[in-house]
Amino acid sequence: MFWSLKGGRRRRIAAASTATAAGVAITLVGMATFATHAAAASSLGAAAAQSGRYFGTAVPAGKLGTSAYTAILDREFNMITPENEMKWDTTEPSRGNFNFGPGDQIVSHAQSHGQRMRGHTLVWHNQLPSWVSNLSASDLQSAMDNHITTEMNHYKGKIYAWDVVNEAFADGGSGQQRSSPFHDKLGNGFIEHAFRTARAADSSAKLCYNDYNIENWSDAKTQGVYNMVKDFKSRGVPIDCVGFQSHFGTGGPPSSFQTTLSNFAALGVDVQITELDIAQAGSTQYANTVNACVHVSRCTGITVWGIRDSDSWRSGDNPLLFDSNGNPKSAYTAVLNALNAATGTATGGTTDGGTTNGGTTNGGTTDGGTTNGGTTNGGTTDGGTGGGACTATYTTVNSWSGGFQGEVKVTAGSSAINGWTVTWTQSSGQSITQVWNGTLASTGSSTVKVSNVSYNGSVQPSASTTFGFLANGSPSTPTLTCTSP
Ligand code: G3I
Repeated sequence: MFWSLKGGRRRRIAAASTATAAGVAITLVGMATFATHAAAASSLGAAAAQSGRYFGTAVPAGKLGTSAYTAILDREFNMITPENEMKWDTTEPSRGNFNFGPGDQIVSHAQSHGQRMRGHTLVWHNQLPSWVSNLSASDLQSAMDNHITTEMNHYKGKIYAWDVVNEAFADGGSGQQRSSPFHDKLGNGFIEHAFRTARAADSSAKLCYNDYNIENWSDAKTQGVYNMVKDFKSRGVPIDCVGFQSHFGTGGPPSSFQTTLSNFAALGVDVQITELDIAQAGSTQYANTVNACVHVSRCTGITVWGIRDSDSWRSGDNPLLFDSNGNPKSAYTAVLNALNAATGTATGGTTDGGTTNGGTTNGGTTDGGTTNGGTTNGGTTDGGTGGGACTATYTTVNSWSGGFQGEVKVTAGSSAINGWTVTWTQSSGQSITQVWNGTLASTGSSTVKVSNVSYNGSVQPSASTTFGFLANGSPSTPTLTCTSP
């Protein structure tokens, strides 16, 4: 037998031949060949580390003095997210008065126990002090910039990844940003502005967008976030990662979860599971979640949202890996086994330098992830028509049996436009079920008409904006007509 190093771990492999002390090879006839893992790691963090990933948990500062709690924390986890202590209501309760005490306590614990930190979160509509909501637009902009910059400067060098913007997209079928003080006063562009400000403050922490209910690939919310990330990457807006909170019901993750992770990874961002908990903590459901991550090379780690059921924000669901007495549940074993069984090594990108001029620089490395389920970017584009005020081009972004996702890019001609409509004729069997970043102006016939929404009607000369849609049927490349009033 010999030991080999593969995928960052030692495997014991039976040899068909071995050597005597004198170095003479002797063939062993009839010996079964087998491969097995070296001693499986016995903690979540160590098991995840074998494939280059981390395993983390949310931690409230108030529990760091409880030894029954910290014993599990320090034995099992190598990444920590402060549960509430880096949120705006704690860190800047009144304008310009910063309080990093509770967050510092957690960072200090992490540093003395060899754990890394995720920063959560810089810009979020919840746990937002009322003074922020009451500001005028220009004041809000400078308060947001100052908050991001001051907090990131304080923690510079101590945070692996920041949730720069949290939960900015709406639930339901719109695929649009939700109403919030930031969105309502600063417009859709507040997310981009926050990421650019964050990169200027700290060029080494990974910058993540984090949200819930974006795990199911075909959901409008997932598509809305996907299109935002795609747009950011194409325009050089600095973004390094997307966090999938993964607060699941008893059924666990949607069957498309791995597809979602790999499709986002294929855009050139890391993906992370950031707040995992599953009602009733089914072993299969937990294992499915871990497997969705470990099968995507750019999925760099998993964080559960609390340690014991009694620590959970939804403790009535018993959703975590340890019971309220601190004993590991069967889901714990399922997760440990899935982590130990992972092959290959996670490959996170370097941080994305972005650009300040809307160009296309991307300092990150990209990886294709895996592509099981759904194809990505397999579409063709057409040259568009219009020639005058605007042109439109079509791309099939994704397709599956019975449906597809299309994207249309609207480009202004040599003059700026203020409002646009794209028209085309659907092929037989096609019917649009959802449109984002556009308004479906007519349905019920084979003619489709999509017009701008309030925030993307104005397009500068030669600049572009995009809208997307989901449709039933098979993809085809339509002839588009773009008009502007
Ligand atoms: O600290 C006060 C305490 O002084 C007061 O006596 C008590 C009375 O209710 O409230 C305490 O604050 C609570 C805080 O947690 C700390 O325990 C808040 O009421 C409570 O709303 C807050 O809940 C947090 C929740 O975010 C708020 O939105 C949860 O702990 C936290 O787990 C949860 O985390 C969020 C993520 O940040 C984002 N994604 C969803 C996730 C779950 O909701």
